[in-house]
Amino acid sequence: MSSMEWSSVSWLWVLLVLLHSLFHVSRGCFEEERNALLDYKAFANVTDDTSPYIFPPNLTSWDDKSNCCAWPRVRCNHTTGRVIEISLNYTIPYDRDAVMYLNATIFLPFVDLQSLDLSSNYLDGWLKNEGFERLHGLTKLQVLDLSWNKFNSSIVSSLLGFSSLKSLSLAGNFLEEFQGFERLHGLTKLQVLDLSSNNRLNSSILSSLLGFSSLKSLSLAGNNMEGPIPIQGMPLLTSIYRPRPI
Ligand SMILES: *[C@@H]1O[C@H](CO)[C@@H](O)[C@H](O)[C@H]1NC(C)=O
Ligand SMILES: *[C@@H]1O[C@H](CO)[C@@H](O)[C@H](O)[C@H]1NC(C)=O
Ligand SMILES: *[C@@H]1O[C@H](CO)[C@@H](O)[C@H](O)[C@H]1NC(C)=O
Ligand SMILES: *[C@@H]1O[C@H](CO)[C@@H](O)[C@H](O)[C@H]1NC(C)=O
Ligand SMILES: *[C@@H]1O[C@H](CO)[C@@H](O)[C@H](O)[C@H]1NC(C)=O
Ligand SMILES: *[C@@H]1O[C@H](CO)[C@@H](O)[C@H](O)[C@H]1NC(C)=O
Ligand SMILES: *[C@@H]1O[C@H](CO)[C@@H](O)[C@H](O)[C@H]1NC(C)=O
Repeated sequence: MSSMEWSSVSWLWVLLVLLHSLFHVSRGCFEEERNALLDYKAFANVTDDTSPYIFPPNLTSWDDKSNCCAWPRVRCNHTTGRVIEISLNYTIPYDRDAVMYLNATIFLPFVDLQSLDLSSNYLDGWLKNEGFERLHGLTKLQVLDLSWNKFNSSIVSSLLGFSSLKSLSLAGNFLEEFQGFERLHGLTKLQVLDLSSNNRLNSSILSSLLGFSSLKSLSLAGNNMEGPIPIQGMPLLTSIYRPRPI
């Protein structure tokens, strides 16, 4: 190949790469991220923005044409065009009889995600083999809010790999015995842990709190437990919300 030909080949390559990235961000956000958000919208089965929701889900503007970085509940990094924050709280209406298993794998495309709020959705758990354990590649995730769902202690094993996590809320779920709870000690950056209002939690979990050495804030409010909280195992702790006395 002559150098002339070579140089036009390289230019073509550069052009293709540019076109590729233009295509991806042409509507301001990455195709795969928009599609994933639309998958969630389909799961939530949002038909309108009012009744029977406690708060309006506000997802009507989520469509396959617009820039997902401009959607309510979504925040992007304007330099990279990547989604960094998703707030999906109160997007699924309360239905006493419904059993809701989320396919968490739909969140895989959000490689730069820092914060995910799935609170107040009455989720029962993850779809089989499609749970949060599939998302450990999201190495920037710092804030995870799973509060006010219907998760039981089996949720814990799906959370073990999130080593970047700084804040985790499991408040208002159906956690009870915490077998394997101490395995969460592997979350060595965890600063905020909210376990409040899990009325089935009892004192048997207190000993497993020894070992959350990076914790700064711990909430055990609204649980049924008594006995000393082993704060000596949490040297950085500055705030603690105690269980109500029983
Ligand atoms: C979506 O909601 C409508 C209206 O509430 C309901 O009739 C339908 O069964 C729901 N679909 C799914 C897949 O849950
Ligand atoms: C819905 O989203 C729009 C657009 O981001 C915003 O202006 C509005 O305040 C939101 N409404 C509610 C009820 O959150
Ligand atoms: C956005 O991404 C750029 C480039 O990776 C980074 O320098 C910046 O800190 C990010 N901003 C936010 C708010 O994450
Ligand atoms: C949903 O969560 C966001 C932050 O994650 C918060 O600002 C907003 O007020 C919440 N919405 C409701 C209805 O609680
Ligand atoms: C879960 O979502 C992923 C990603 O969208 C998809 O590939 C997979 O088939 C889904 N799993 C099920 C059981 O629907
Ligand atoms: C905990 O939740 C999982 C997922 O929903 C379910 O399969 C399991 O039966 C539940 N375990 C208990 C003890 O309720
Ligand atoms: C705490 O709960 C576990 C599981 O629900 C139970 O086996 C244990 O006896 C309880 N311990 C106390 C002190 O109530």
